[in-house]
Amino acid sequence: MYTCGIDIGSVSTEALILDIDDKKNYKILSYTVNKTGSDSKTAAEDTFNIALQKAKLNKNEINSIVATGYGRVNVAFAKKNITEITCHASGVTLLFPDVITIIDIGGQDSKVIKIDKVSKKPIDFLMNDKCAAGTGRFLEVMAKTLEIDLENFGEIFLNTKNKVDITSTCTVFAESEIVSLIGHGVAKEKIIKGLIYSIADRIISMVSRVGLEAPVCLTGGVAKNSGISNAIEEKLGVKLKIPFEPQITGALGAAYLASNY
Ligand SMILES: Nc1ncnc2c1ncn2[C@@H]1O[C@H](COP(=O)(O)OP(=O)(O)OP(=O)(O)O)[C@@H](O)[C@H]1O
Ligand SMILES: [Mg+2]
Repeated sequence: MYTCGIDIGSVSTEALILDIDDKKNYKILSYTVNKTGSDSKTAAEDTFNIALQKAKLNKNEINSIVATGYGRVNVAFAKKNITEITCHASGVTLLFPDVITIIDIGGQDSKVIKIDKVSKKPIDFLMNDKCAAGTGRFLEVMAKTLEIDLENFGEIFLNTKNKVDITSTCTVFAESEIVSLIGHGVAKEKIIKGLIYSIADRIISMVSRVGLEAPVCLTGGVAKNSGISNAIEEKLGVKLKIPFEPQITGALGAAYLASNY
């Protein structure tokens, strides 16, 4: 059967199509990563249509669709909605069957999920969705203030020796702090290194509350920021597993679970 998973996040929307048999052997036929924008309903439809085109299938050939992510209730054409925690856990387990701890850093929230070794189901999780600090949005705001592309943060992190500590944890105050540091002539590279470590610290405190157990996987758009993944690895003392496309794990899990409905 053909199934589709759609993950509507605050920043990005993903659709992924699977060809899956009765024994749950599967093949990824296509996937798409799109911007969510201001209309999550349209984003879901457009992203689904692009994934269909890539897979050379039409709508009627898809047997089951599961939606996940914060905008999942807006996907009227989905058979079922399933929470992000369940879908991410399922998607990551398909890619890395031995992973126990998942760190997902998205646009508006960050979460740590603990997987049961035997059942491969989530047994614990912690989510920060109350504050932008420690999320992709925080990095986007800071990149804008610094007038440096977020895509360059990884390289800057590697090539910069010293950091400047950012003491404000609130996004708005951190932005003022950065403006003031720039005004005092502090190199932007040192500020970026400090910002990356401040996010890594927040994530690590979440990981320690859930309990660090390797292997650890990093997912979400922020996993594409090698500065963040390097800082987390350095502070945790553990090598992170990062999927070939870190934004599609929720959609992959949703598509896999769709075969049950
Ligand atoms: N190429 C890239 N380089 C660096 N950072 C990136 C890149 N692409 C995405 N990001 C980061 O990823 C974030 C978006 O992550 P993601 O797509 O996982 O969010 P989301 O699933 O829409 O959000 P949420 O799950 O919180 O609703 C952006 O805010 C940005 O910080
Ligand atoms: Mg997400």
